[in-house]
Formats: sequence, C-alpha cells, structure tokens
Amino acid sequence: MPERTIIEPFRIKAVEPLRFTTRAEREQALAAAGYNLFALAADDVLIDLLTDSGTGAMSSEQWAAIMRGDESYAGARSFERFESVVRELTGFTHVIPTHQGRAAERILFGELVATGEVVPNNTHFDTTRANVEFQGAEARDLVCTEGRDLQLDAPFKGNLDLEALEATLREAGDQVPLVLVTITNNSGGGQPVSLANLRGVRELCDRYEVPFFLDACRFAENAWFIKEREPGQQDRSPREIAEEVFRLADGCTISLKKDGLANIGGVLALNDPELAARCRDNLILTEGFPTYGGLAGRDLDALAVGLQEVTDPDYLRYRVRTAAYLAEKAWAAGVPTVRPPGGHAVYLDAGALLAHVPAPELPAQALACELYLEGGVRAVEIGTLMFGRPGEPGQPDLTAPHELVRLALPRRSYTQSHVDYVGEVIAAVAARAEQVRGYRIVEQPRWLRHFTARLAPIIG
Ligand code: F0G
Repeated sequence: MPERTIIEPFRIKAVEPLRFTTRAEREQALAAAGYNLFALAADDVLIDLLTDSGTGAMSSEQWAAIMRGDESYAGARSFERFESVVRELTGFTHVIPTHQGRAAERILFGELVATGEVVPNNTHFDTTRANVEFQGAEARDLVCTEGRDLQLDAPFKGNLDLEALEATLREAGDQVPLVLVTITNNSGGGQPVSLANLRGVRELCDRYEVPFFLDACRFAENAWFIKEREPGQQDRSPREIAEEVFRLADGCTISLKKDGLANIGGVLALNDPELAARCRDNLILTEGFPTYGGLAGRDLDALAVGLQEVTDPDYLRYRVRTAAYLAEKAWAAGVPTVRPPGGHAVYLDAGALLAHVPAPELPAQALACELYLEGGVRAVEIGTLMFGRPGEPGQPDLTAPHELVRLALPRRSYTQSHVDYVGEVIAAVAARAEQVRGYRIVEQPRWLRHFTARLAPIIG
C-alpha cells in the first residue's frame, strides 16, 4: 500500500466559527491580560492549544447519548451504562464517578494517604502533587533516567525507575500508602509507559504489599504507543492492551476530560470493597450521591460512549500522528521540542530557542506570548512562571529546570490545515527569535502563580 495522508477519521456535522483578530487587537488584548494567556478571553484566541482537557469534540453518537441521559437522583440508568463500560474496560469492581480527575484524587488520597507518608509516581501532575501534599505527604517523582533528558529519543520515557521505586519501598515501605503511575506522563512531555514497566511495578507492589493505582487520563494514547513501540504488541488492539494495563493495577483515578472524549467528568475505580465504601462516604460529602458523583446523567451517558470510541485504532493513529506532524513542523523551523513528541501535545524548548533570555526573564512565557501575538495561537508556559517562585529575602528567585511551551491538541477539534497554520506561526516566531525579549512579574499570588500573575515586558 502506498503511504497516504493520515486523514481525520470523521467528517464534520456541527461547526463553531473562529473569530479572527488583527495583530493590533491581539497586542491590546495581551496587554490588558497582563501578558498572562490565562487571562485572555477565549474569543480573542484563534487556535486554542492551552489544554487537551475538556476541549474535545463529541461524536454524533455521544450527542445522541446526551438525549438518553436519565437525570434520576439515585439509581439512574445512565449510571448503570457508565458503570458497565468502566467495569468492562478496567476490570475494577467499584466505579465511583466524580466531576473531574482532581476530585477522584482528593477522595482517594483523603482516605488512603496520611501525614509523613511518601507517594511515588513517575511524575505527579500538578493537581495530583497538590492533593498528595495537602494530606501532609511527600509526592516523590521517580521517572526513569531517559525521561529526564528532553532531547533523547527513546520509546518509553514515561517509565518509572524500578530500582528507585524498590529503594523507596525498602526504606519507607510501611510509609508508602500507594504507588501511582501516570499514563501517559503529562508533566514529562506526554511520554508513554511500557507494559513491561507496569508489570515491574505490579511485581514490586506485590512484594512489598502496597496498592498500585494508575492516573490514567490518557490510557488510550498510552495503549497506542505500546502497540506501536513495544516488542510483541503490534498484533494486539489498543483496547486489549488498555484492558491488560488496567488489570495490572488495584485501582485508578481518571480525568475523563481527556480520553473520556467528553467535556467534563472523572472516575475513581478500584477493587478493595472497604476502601471503596469509605471513598463513597467521602464522595457524598462534596460531590454527590454515588450514582452521579457531581455529574449529570447525560454526562455519564456521553462518557460511556466516549470510553468506547477512544480506543478505535483509526482515531488513535490519527491522534498520535497529529502531534508528531506538528513536532515535525517545529523541527523544520529550527525549533527544538521534547523528543519524541507525546500523544496529546508538543512541548517546544523555549530555553534552547531563546537562549539569550535568562530563565528569571521567563523565556517560555515570552515564546507563548509571541505565538499569540503572531497568529492568535494560545499555548501554556511550563517553565519558571509555572514552577519558579520568589527567593528568600536577599536570595535570587528560584527557576524551573526546563523552559517549555506546551501546545496541547484538543481531541477531534482542529483539522490538518489548522495544524499547518500553527506550524507557520511557530516558523514566523522562530525566524525573529533573537528579537524576542523577556518578561518580569509585577503581581503574583502565593500559590499557583501562573494562573493569575500579571507581567510586563522587559524593554531594551
Ligand atoms: N492527572 C493528569 C495526568 C492530568 O493531566 C490532569 C489534568 C489531572 C490529573 C487532573 O484532572 O483537570 O480533570 O481535574 N490535566 C489538564 C492539563 C488540566 O491541561 O494537562 P482534572
């Protein structure tokens, strides 16, 4: 068969018009937003790559399912459908819906994690880390050595370092309430975790008698990478692989705003009946009755369909190819990215592109602002604005280890020509990279400063 273009495996039934702005309008909007892209009105953004979370397009079958939603307070048919789809996919007996991923994290850690304990993970996502630390425990990142080298091309850079995990379990075994693995490893560049690595984690957790949970927001993309990259997996379907992956663990938290293919939702699923009962009690306090957990019946129905559609090989081939295609555009323009490209996003290396802007002057934020000014593309800074903080009095400010800009791809929302356009915007900014100047923070909150800080350009 000749190599043909990998096309979007859908046609479009409903459209949402984009609003075009002029450069002058964008300059004004960005200044009014204090040079913080989170403060922009979405209407002033042309292509929104801020996140792949809750921003995807639902299918016609999902919209049909919305009409089947049963809004009964208790025992709704929608819950039965959702529960049976999650059970089939994951094999877990207890299925607890939540309004999004972080609610599932809060409930699980609230019941399982205590002060002074240690929670290992390949890399904690921000909300996962915050929820572990909120319990007074340490969130310990143990990603493999390859995963720490941005430019290295390796198939499974999301893997957990099994030796480091064993050392943690040996030294702090009774202080480890659970081991987490994030698939794919979002904070590490959307890198996948191999089946072999997950089996290794299972073995260690059995040996040390510690529960093993997945943070499985992007389980379908991870399954596709296993199919493509892991020896012996090529002939299996992504569905079969995903089913095996879930069955290696004792439970999972999932933000269904990603591979649930819906705009809201989350789930906590697990096998331990006693822990599940405690989690349900906790759920009732803040999320809602156990058969809706903060969601409408129609959301549960849309999710039940989304969770079946997401493992379609044609969809996953197109999905993963889109990120690789965008990365190739960046490389052609001379912009380095985290390698290999992840499943849901491309991470531009602003530290390398804007080497003349020192980290305290926020090179990744500067690049994100330029992409917006150049073409109305909104991305997210993952660098010193997000992870740095002011130094102690008399000390310099703390900077992040990497200066990245994440271009996250909403699912089924943009076409290849949108991606071509983003590539052109990246190339235009890269062509005048040496003229890009940094930013300083003029106002910042105490926590999670990237969401609300106000900045000003450094002139001169
Ligand atoms: N875990 C991972 C790996 C995530 O990427 C996210 C969210 C969450 C947990 C929390 O889920 O938002 O439904 O509460 N990631 C989004 C992002 C926000 O942009 O990467 P949530």
